Amino acid sequence: MRLEFLKYEIKPQIFKRFPLNWVEIFEREAPIVVEIGFGSGEFLENMAREMQDFNFVGFEMSLTSLWKAQKRFFGSGLSNVKVILGDGRFCLRELFPPNSVRKVVTNFPCPWSKKKHEKRRIIVESFFQTLGNVLEFGGEFEIATDERWYAEEVVRKVRKLWYLEVSRFSLNPERKFRTRYEMKWLSEGRKIHAISVRKVGNFEVERLLEGEESMPHRLVKKAEADVNRLEGLKNRVFKEGKKLFVIKEIFRKSDGNDRVIKVIAKDGEIQQSYFVDILDKGDRYLVKLDETTIPYRTPSVKFSVFRIAEEMMKKMG
Ligand SMILES: C[S@@+](CC[C@H](N)C(=O)[O-])C[C@H]1O[C@@H](n2cnc3c(N)ncnc32)[C@H](O)[C@@H]1O
Repeated sequence: MRLEFLKYEIKPQIFKRFPLNWVEIFEREAPIVVEIGFGSGEFLENMAREMQDFNFVGFEMSLTSLWKAQKRFFGSGLSNVKVILGDGRFCLRELFPPNSVRKVVTNFPCPWSKKKHEKRRIIVESFFQTLGNVLEFGGEFEIATDERWYAEEVVRKVRKLWYLEVSRFSLNPERKFRTRYEMKWLSEGRKIHAISVRKVGNFEVERLLEGEESMPHRLVKKAEADVNRLEGLKNRVFKEGKKLFVIKEIFRKSDGNDRVIKVIAKDGEIQQSYFVDILDKGDRYLVKLDETTIPYRTPSVKFSVFRIAEEMMKKMG
């Protein structure tokens, strides 16, 4: 099978500068529309085809969805759409500069109705703050859901914010394109609630990635380090301020002293799993991110590399 259709995906983790330069990525300047959780991608495809003068960016957590959507875009010969695997809440904040997005769309987001899953919802406070930052002044967030309580929660939350306002709340609206889930819910006789929210003020957000993000690494003199100390650190949680990581596993490479360490790091809502390499370089060890699993170089990820190097240097006994 020809794999040319995979050209629509971008992997922001491998970029050096944040937020991303979207003019370079699309090779043209145009207003940006973002869809979070595009599922099979029919809505994104329809929008991109109908609005050729806009650039579209879709976020999804499912790799299968990413494949399906790209096949559609390729079939339609689109050149104004890109997709990214990742949490749309994190990506929207980290990948776009302030006042740069014309519209954000979310169709039938997973409602996560249980109280214990509340933090997984798209509509958490930090997401609204991100909208207040990245949307252009007057730019809109459009959300459709079949869950009445969820729609009401959006309205209740937005009404408390000075930088966003509810501009429309409609029941079973006529929509130009319908999504897969929308068709399913309509066929079951469920009602569709559509809400539009407009940006009316600018909210300053703190980004985790900003400017040049180089690859964190440390060189440790062998005479001052003991690589075997790492064995005792499995399942240890390291915390410093908001930074947090845990060492999940330590693997020894069959040849020599090299180690590969599996780490999970958490920065607020984003959790990343990756490897840190300890490489024998003669009289030194090089501690660095493993290049097969490049995470976003967030504060917790950098902290993990530096702290692992420090732990190797701690005196024994
Ligand atoms: C119920 S489906 C709806 C799919 C599509 N929008 C539709 O209407 O047919 C929700 C989708 O959102 C994706 N999703 C959930 N949370 C997400 C997040 N934080 N960022 C990006 N995608 C997310 C899921 O993988 C899933 O494909």
